[in-house]
Amino acid sequence: MSIIKGFHHLTACVSGAQEDVDFYVKLLGQSLVKKTVLLDGEDPIYHLYYGNPQGDAGTLVTSFPFKQKGVQGRRGSGQIRVINYSVPKGSLDFWRARFSAHGIAFDKEVVERFGEERQRFHHPCGIEFDLVASDRDPRVPCLADDIPEAFAIRGVHSITLSLREVAESITFMQEAIDFRYAGESGPYHRFETSDGAPGTIVEFLHEPDRLQGSSIYGEGTIHHVAFAVDSQEQQMQIKDKLMSMGYIDASESVNRNYFRSMYFKMPGGVIFEAATTDIGFAIDEEPGHFGEEFQLPPWLRDRKEELLGRLEAIAV
Ligand SMILES: [Fe+2]
Repeated sequence: MSIIKGFHHLTACVSGAQEDVDFYVKLLGQSLVKKTVLLDGEDPIYHLYYGNPQGDAGTLVTSFPFKQKGVQGRRGSGQIRVINYSVPKGSLDFWRARFSAHGIAFDKEVVERFGEERQRFHHPCGIEFDLVASDRDPRVPCLADDIPEAFAIRGVHSITLSLREVAESITFMQEAIDFRYAGESGPYHRFETSDGAPGTIVEFLHEPDRLQGSSIYGEGTIHHVAFAVDSQEQQMQIKDKLMSMGYIDASESVNRNYFRSMYFKMPGGVIFEAATTDIGFAIDEEPGHFGEEFQLPPWLRDRKEELLGRLEAIAV
């Protein structure tokens, strides 16, 4: 049994900030859970958190709008290729009509894998998404005026990693971080932390001929995935195990204001993170008011006006 509870958040580097808000909030019905800044580097870049209204771990996808800095990422292997959201069965027609109405690119064919129907669509910056139809997701629906509960996204279903080689990574998932191997389907391998419910699933897509993608913060790429753990103590348990196996590029526990992060690379090159659930978004905004104001960690608060003035104005 893994001490990982499933996903905490996924983080992607997108293009413009308003375009990103329109995609997650207006198109997908996600709540803007927090509006803050990237805590690495000197140049201000937004860090926008989207998820269900409670900001629950496992529903969170976060964005760095890197158009601001003009740094391009390179999509390829050794990266997360697809973010998969969970929706109820019978909802894919609703979403296809919605993508058409919003001018969002989507595939004409619905695909089935591991017994689940999937609809591919694209973020305006090019990042790939699937909606996965599942009746096994009891999480709170992400509603909007024009998104009824029967069709609403429940949270992150899974992620799909693009890997040139899979053998050592398959071993890593099972022996280093205690995921269960759940099966193979063509070039896909599936892993789960528990019973395979949405929010606990990692897929590999074996793409031996795909060139390696970038690891930097750069527009158009998914940068990393964070898995949820309870505490810093559990982060260090994971780190100790990784170190004992020879995976020695695991970070210290870093303060990210709303959680603590420990980063490590899996053998296929994808950046993984263990993020703690012991702090949360209520430290600077009351529940029910998440994402309303621009927030900064204590060590940056005296620079609020200056930083905000250097960022694109966004309307939710
Ligand atoms: Fe993260």
